[in-house]
Amino acid sequence: MTTTNNWTKSSWRNFPVLQQPNWPDEEALNATLETIEKLPPLVFAGEIRDLKNKLAQAVQGKAFLLQGGDCSEEFCRCTAPNIRDTLKVLLQMAVTLTYAGEKPVIKVGRIAGQYAKPRSSDTEIVDGVELPSYRGDMCNSEKPDPAARIPDPERLLQGYNMSAASLNLLRAFTRGGFGALDKVQAWNQEFVKKSPMGRSYERLAKQISQAMKFMQNVGFDTDTPQLKEVKFYTSHEALFLGYEEALTRQDSMEGGWYDCSGHMLWIGDRTRQIDGAHIEFLRGVLNPLGMKVGPKHSIDDILAIIEKLNPDNEAGRITLITRFGAKDVEKYLPPLLRAMKKEGMHVLWSCDPMHANIRKTENGHKTRSFEDILSELRHFFEVHWAEGTIPGGVHFELTGTNVTECTGGAHQLADEQLGQNYLTTCDPRLNAEQSLEMAFQIAEMMKN
Ligand code: PEP
Ligand code: CO
Repeated sequence: MTTTNNWTKSSWRNFPVLQQPNWPDEEALNATLETIEKLPPLVFAGEIRDLKNKLAQAVQGKAFLLQGGDCSEEFCRCTAPNIRDTLKVLLQMAVTLTYAGEKPVIKVGRIAGQYAKPRSSDTEIVDGVELPSYRGDMCNSEKPDPAARIPDPERLLQGYNMSAASLNLLRAFTRGGFGALDKVQAWNQEFVKKSPMGRSYERLAKQISQAMKFMQNVGFDTDTPQLKEVKFYTSHEALFLGYEEALTRQDSMEGGWYDCSGHMLWIGDRTRQIDGAHIEFLRGVLNPLGMKVGPKHSIDDILAIIEKLNPDNEAGRITLITRFGAKDVEKYLPPLLRAMKKEGMHVLWSCDPMHANIRKTENGHKTRSFEDILSELRHFFEVHWAEGTIPGGVHFELTGTNVTECTGGAHQLADEQLGQNYLTTCDPRLNAEQSLEMAFQIAEMMKN
């Protein structure tokens, strides 16, 4: 079925496509995609529209976007405690930003579908053996074994099922009382409680509880959805286009196509070619879109891509997620801000302070330091203030568990300590305590 400008949900197939697995059996792949195509959507068009409206508020500085979660979700970690702990830390960060940063916060997880990863090379050498690269659990296994690395389309279906199970629990948590504001104190995890950040959070949570009690005592009804429920949205990189196509559905209420695999989708820094398949696919779905922009970009190119993705210049449609690195943000961000401003483009500016701050330790751990992450964030805010534009959001790789993947923070985690609980299969994440510390710092900047 054709909509505007010759777009269909499969028109991307006529364009060069990067970063797809080399599926060995096309018939098996197509059979799986046909199965997924018949399964129910994971999210609904109405929810996607709500998120887009909220992001439009953030474009004007009336709200702030908090997006975060694993670099790469793993099937084996799709468990209730894991999902609950990631949600907890995001809710803690969000309440800190709302209360101390004095703005409504839009909560978007890198969760319930973040199973596909772009890689810099098709193969990698492990212990002298060349293997196909691990491309996320929705493609192959990270086990360094040639058979386990063969892309398996069954994993797409498994990814759909894991996303559905995660979403189900997230919906239950956020609507069934767990996300209620009178639970703020309960979100503080044991291992965080004992830390300086945990204490600061405890104080903030107490103030909120007191304010709630006060409202009840003077006769306000606090049994309202605004206080008892929390709106939480999902996002992932729209990478494996066959899967995204299979979950693209036409809205029965208002028409229009939505990619119902998640609420918000983003385009990675490696797959945003203007004439490529990813841009072709995403221009036709009505979801809010993130686009990563790293140091290797051309401003004209970014302008042309946005024009293609958002010809009506709708606010909330495009979030530019810049990831320049602590050292380079002051070099790359100002010209980009000026160009967008000159063209009058309505975009939400978010900072990913993770992806250009990676380093390798002597022991071979891929890590990022808390100081570099915070430094990129500070520069991001400062550049926006100087240019008169709006720093509207942040994008993190984080987890609710007590991992040791990023160095620094209140506990001054050192390079040599990274081996203690280094669990990520892809990029290093902030642990719950480091994430909360980051939130307190951002809240101070937001108030400026
Ligand atoms: C990511 O967000 O995990 C990622 C791969 O980012 P980027 O496209 O910015 O490198
Ligand atoms: Co990553």
